[in-house]
Amino acid sequence: MGNGNAASDAGGSETFPALKRTQKSIGGRVVDSQEPHQLAEHFIAVGTRQREAHPSRTEQFSETHGARSYPLAAGGVNKYFHPMQLPYPSADPFALILAPMAGVSEAPFRQICRRMGADVVVSEFLSSEAIRRRIRTTLEGAEFEECERPIGIQIYGADANAMAEAAGLITGHYQPEFIDINFGCPVKKVVQRNGGSGCLRDLDLVERIIRAVIAATHLPVTVKTRSGWNDDGRDPVGIALRMQDAGARAFTLHARTRTQMFSGHADWDEIARVVEALEIPVIGNGDIQTADDVVRMRAHTGCAGVMIGRGAFGNPWLFRDAQALLAGRTRPEAPDASERFRVALEHAGLALRLQGDSRKTVMEFRKHLGWYTKGLRGASDLRQRLFQIESIAEAESIFLEYLGPLARVA
Ligand SMILES: Cc1cc2nc3c(=O)[nH]c(=O)nc-3n(C[C@H](O)[C@H](O)[C@H](O)COP(=O)(O)O)c2cc1C
Repeated sequence: MGNGNAASDAGGSETFPALKRTQKSIGGRVVDSQEPHQLAEHFIAVGTRQREAHPSRTEQFSETHGARSYPLAAGGVNKYFHPMQLPYPSADPFALILAPMAGVSEAPFRQICRRMGADVVVSEFLSSEAIRRRIRTTLEGAEFEECERPIGIQIYGADANAMAEAAGLITGHYQPEFIDINFGCPVKKVVQRNGGSGCLRDLDLVERIIRAVIAATHLPVTVKTRSGWNDDGRDPVGIALRMQDAGARAFTLHARTRTQMFSGHADWDEIARVVEALEIPVIGNGDIQTADDVVRMRAHTGCAGVMIGRGAFGNPWLFRDAQALLAGRTRPEAPDASERFRVALEHAGLALRLQGDSRKTVMEFRKHLGWYTKGLRGASDLRQRLFQIESIAEAESIFLEYLGPLARVA
C-alpha cells in the first residue's frame, strides 16, 4: 500500500526530467490498436485524484441549484436531475466513475484517472471461485492504494456461496468502499458457466446471489449489468427492479444486450426508463467518448452518475474536461503531444512500481502507449515503434525523438 501522496506515488517526474521540462513545447493530437471487445476476450481468455484542483463543482452545483431538482435538457428528453445519495463517498454528487475493465482498469490507470478527476474507480472483475481458492494473481487484482479511494471491487460468479465467501474475504482483507457484482460480462468463457451476463437468463439466481453477497458484508453492494441476454429478453427495467428488490444499493446499466457484445449503440432511453423506475441511484454507461457526452447523458437520462470505459483509453483528460463542463467552466485546452507523453510515462512509472519492473509489465503497457498517441501527427508510425519496445526507457527515447531537438536540450 502506498501513502497516497500524489507526488511520491507518481514515479514519473524524476525518471523522465527531459520530458517534464519540454512539456509545453509541441502541439498535436491518436489511433486504436486493438478492438476493445477483442481486448476483453483476450484478458479473460488468458485467465483471467488527484481530482484536478477545481473543488468548485460541488459549490457551484449547490449555489446554483440548491437541493432542488432542475431541468437539464432544453429539448429532447427534458429530464430533471435529482441529486441522489450514492452508497459510497463521492467528491461530487454527480459521480464520474472509471468503469471496471479487465486488463485496463488496473491500479496504475485507476490512479491516473483519479488524479485527472474521476470521482470513483472500480477494479477489474475478479472471479469469486478464484478468490475463494486464494489464487494469488486474482487476489493481486483486489489490491489498491489509499489514493485510489473511493474504490469498488468487482466480483463475478454464478455460485451464491462462492460469491458470498469472496465478498467476505474482500471486505475483511481489502476494505474497499463497496462491492460491485458483475452481471454484465458477455465473454463466452464466463457466460458458459452462468457468470457475468449469463446470470441474466435466470433472475432467481441473480436475486440469490445479491442476497448472499449482502449477507456476507457490511459494505454497500452495487450491481452492474446489461439490458438483457438478447433482444427477446431485453427488459432493463424488469431486471433493475429485481436487483433493487434483492437489496442492490446502486445500479449501473450498460445499455446493450449480451448478444450485442459491443456492437450497435448503447440505448440511453433505456437508462432513462430505469432512472424513472428505481429508487436507488442509477449509473449510466455506454458510449461516452467525450466530456460533452457526459453532459448529454446526464441531461438525457437523469442518471446519478456516469461510468466511463473505452473513452478513457489514453484519454484520462476526459474526466478533467467533464468536471469542467459540469461545473459550467470552459473546457480546458486539449493536451499537446508532450503533455500526453508526460502522462503516459507517469502512468508507465506507476505500472513499473506497482506491477513489477518486468518484461511482462512492459508488454502489457504497450497498448496504453498506443492509445496515448491516438490522433497525433504520424501516430501510425509512432505506434508501430511503441509496440516493439522492450523497456519504458525505449518509449521515452521514442517520445523525445518525436518531440524533436528542442526536447533534448531543454
Ligand atoms: C477491455 C474491456 C474490459 C472490460 N472488463 C470489464 C470488467 O471487468 N467488468 C465489467 O463490469 N465490465 C467490463 N467491461 C465493460 C465496461 O465496463 C463498460 O461497461 C463497457 O465498455 C461500455 O462502456 P464504454 O462504452 O464507456 O466503454 C470491459 C470493457 C472493455 C472494453
